[in-house]
Amino acid sequence: MSADLVEAAIAAMAKAYAPYSNFPVGAALRGGGGGIYSGCNVENAAYPLGCCAEASAISALVSGGERRIVEVAVAGGSDLLVTPCGGCRQRLREFAADDVLIHLCGPQGLRRSVTLGELLPLSFGPDHLAGRRGSPGAGAGD
Ligand code: THU
Repeated sequence: MSADLVEAAIAAMAKAYAPYSNFPVGAALRGGGGGIYSGCNVENAAYPLGCCAEASAISALVSGGERRIVEVAVAGGSDLLVTPCGGCRQRLREFAADDVLIHLCGPQGLRRSVTLGELLPLSFGPDHLAGRRGSPGAGAGD
């Protein structure tokens, strides 16, 4: 059921701190345990230090003790469909599988749903590094 997640993303968008772009974004993630974690974009006068809504929501999820994302909603106020930026697709990939649904929303609600695999095909993720963690000295071809 995506309605609660869509609502949470729209509510988070209303809390965005986006005085420089005037482009508020909200994101909501459903964790593996069923809980919802949300975040908004937080900009900074030193522009590159700004944080995307998805990154804020991921911080909330991880600090809430979760490591798995099972559903995502992103809300933005553009005429164009607001999709996660390239960096945030990869951030989501760290905790979400290819088949995870990402609900793309406007202020009035759901506009379109896509999968993470559609947004980030042939992705590189944690699976590629499985078994390699903690093997100092491992190099290319090992
Ligand atoms: N933004 C997000 O929060 N998420 C995205 O995936 C796209 C872009 C924010 C960053 C910046 O604060 C504003 O939207 C304009 O780029």
